[in-house]
Amino acid sequence: MPRKSGIGIVGTGRFLPTKVLNNADLEKMVDTSDEWIMTRTGIKERRIAGEGIAAAFMGAEAAKRALQNAGLDAGEIDLIITATITPDMQFPSTSCLIQHRLGAVRAIGFDISAACSGYIYGITIAQQFIKSGLYRNALVIGSEKMSSITDWEDRNTCVLFGDGAGACVMQKVKEGGILSTYLGSDGRNAPLLEVPGGGSLRPASHETIDERLHYCKMSGSELFKEAVKLMAEAGNKAMAKSGLKCGDIDLVIPHQANIRILWAVAKKMNLPREKIYLNIERYGNMSSASTAVALAEAVEEKRIKKGDIIILDAFGAGLTWGAIVIKW
Ligand code: ACO
Repeated sequence: MPRKSGIGIVGTGRFLPTKVLNNADLEKMVDTSDEWIMTRTGIKERRIAGEGIAAAFMGAEAAKRALQNAGLDAGEIDLIITATITPDMQFPSTSCLIQHRLGAVRAIGFDISAACSGYIYGITIAQQFIKSGLYRNALVIGSEKMSSITDWEDRNTCVLFGDGAGACVMQKVKEGGILSTYLGSDGRNAPLLEVPGGGSLRPASHETIDERLHYCKMSGSELFKEAVKLMAEAGNKAMAKSGLKCGDIDLVIPHQANIRILWAVAKKMNLPREKIYLNIERYGNMSSASTAVALAEAVEEKRIKKGDIIILDAFGAGLTWGAIVIKW
C-alpha cells in the first residue's frame, strides 16, 4: 500500500488570456492547414497574451485563484517557485515580480528553468522544502508567454504553442498527498529544442536578430520519439516507486505537446485513453503552464475527486522529464 507523504496540493488556479488564435488564422500566416494541424497535433486553437501581458501577470492571476481555492492569504505564503522559460526579463526573477503583485511579503521566491517539465520539477522542489520544515506554505506556478519566443514565419513550430499560467498551493495534509516523484534530465539532447540567442553565449545583437536566433528551434520528429519513451518511463517509474499499478490510476494529467504523443504514452503505460486528461485542442503546448492549467481545469471540472490517484507527467527541453503520483 502506498505510504502517506503528508504533503499535498490544497488549491489550484489558472489564467488564460482571452485572445484566441485558431488554425484558420494560422492558415493566413504560414503555409499550413487546419486539417494538418488537427491530425498531426490535435490542436484547434491557442491563447495569445497581448502586449504588456507576460509571465508575471499571468502567473500572479493564476496564483490568486489558487490561494482563494486553498483559503489562504498571500501573506501566509513562505515560498514561491515559478517555472518558466519565458520570464518577463532575464532578471529579476518572475517569482519576485509575482510576490510583489500578490503582496506575499513574507515569501522568498526564485525561478526554475526546466521547460515543459518545470511544473513537475517545481512541485518536487517545494515538497522538499515543506518536508524539511523550512517552509509551511508554498506556491508553485507554471507561467509562459510562448508567443514571445515563437517564430511566426516557421510553420514547423508556430502552430504548436500558446500562452497561459497555472498555479497550486502546497502544504502538509492530513490525508493523501504526494506518494512518489521521479525526475530525469539528459543534456546530450539539448540541441533538439532551444532558443539559441539572447543568453550569455550569444547575447542579443543585430546578427542574432537577423538570424532569428531569439526564437524556438525544434527537431520535431526526434523529440516526438523521446517524448513518448520518456513520458511513459517517468509515469511507470513514479508508479513503481509508489507501489501502485496502472489499474490504481484514476487520471493522468500530462504535458500537452501533441495528442499523438499522449495516445502513444497511454498505450505504453497500458492505460485506457479516457484516463488521459486532454485540453490540447483549446490551448496547444504552453510549456510549463500546460500541466499546471490541465490540473486546475481537471479539478474545476470535478474530474478529480477526493481519494483519487492521479499522475502528473511531463517532458520537455533539456531534455527534462518527470512524473508525480498524488493521492488527492
Ligand atoms: N503545416 C503543414 N505542413 C507542415 C507543418 C505545418 N504546420 N509543419 C511541418 N510540416 C511538414 C514538414 O515540412 C514535413 O514536410 P516534408 O515531408 O515535405 O519535409 C511534413 O510536414 C512532416 O513533418 P514532420 O516533422 O515529420 O511531422 P511530424 O509528424 O513529426 O509532426 C510535430 C511534427 C507536430 C512537430 C511533431 O514532431 C511533434 O509534436 N514533436 C514533438 C514536440 C514536443 O514534444 N516538443 C517538446 C516539448 S516542447 C517544450 O519543451 C517547450
